[in-house]
Amino acid sequence: MKKTVNTFKEAKLKGEKVTMLTAYDYSTAKLEEEAGIDSILVGDSLGNVILGYEDTVSVTVEDMIHHCAAVARGAKNTLIVCDMPFMSYQSSTYDAVVNAGRLMKEGRANAVKLEGGKNIQDAIKHITESGIPVVGHLGLTPQSVNAFGGYKAQGKSLDSAKKLIEDAYAVQEAGAFALTLECVPAQLATLITKNLKLTTIGIGAGNGCDGQVLVYADMLAMFSDYRPKFVKNFANVGEVMKSGFAGYINDVKNASYPSAEHTYAIDPDILEKLKKEFN
Ligand code: KIV
Repeated sequence: MKKTVNTFKEAKLKGEKVTMLTAYDYSTAKLEEEAGIDSILVGDSLGNVILGYEDTVSVTVEDMIHHCAAVARGAKNTLIVCDMPFMSYQSSTYDAVVNAGRLMKEGRANAVKLEGGKNIQDAIKHITESGIPVVGHLGLTPQSVNAFGGYKAQGKSLDSAKKLIEDAYAVQEAGAFALTLECVPAQLATLITKNLKLTTIGIGAGNGCDGQVLVYADMLAMFSDYRPKFVKNFANVGEVMKSGFAGYINDVKNASYPSAEHTYAIDPDILEKLKKEFN
């Protein structure tokens, strides 16, 4: 059965955790669905992990549509959340609704995710009123890396913690069904989780959240440019891939690959005729 926003709502009521991982392509999405994931985030971390940018700022709506559509083809029974990239919702509520609509119609997303609180409350309201489910994102919001002056934990001082709580309420009031909390103190994330009706999804926010999300390339040790404190390696796929690539290079160089089992044969009579004609 297809997992939907109701899967999140029911899990919160039952006190069950929800799981989310990023994916950016068909095959990874398919594997995650087969493993039983509740939701896939086509994150704009696409910019770092897949496209090799330094940050998420350069990612476009077209990039997101292209990758989201591939993920949606691979995971038809999973709730697909697609990030709205930088400047696709900040400029006006009109842009926000049009771009969210494109991510749904062309990218086949089931929901969209936006970074911010009170400052984007109108955008969230207009998008949800258009029938598009929204996930908020507070704490460390990577699209604002230039404003933050780097990737740092948020909500550690009294003022910033209070602002974060106010922003969380603003996101909920605007109609979001879930909220990503990135790099915030665990106790603060737990307080927000206990007081709000929406589903909180933590990343670097402790285990008091209603669910967790990780960038799949981080948790499989495939992405090595940097490694945030909150990442746990659940498998060392990066090393497995490197060793597979090295094995291939070795076997091709010493001509042991392809061997007979990987090779197509031809009828010996036909071969004889060919040899007579072309030798
Ligand atoms: O883009 C992304 O992958 C995200 C997660 C870090 C939550 O927003």
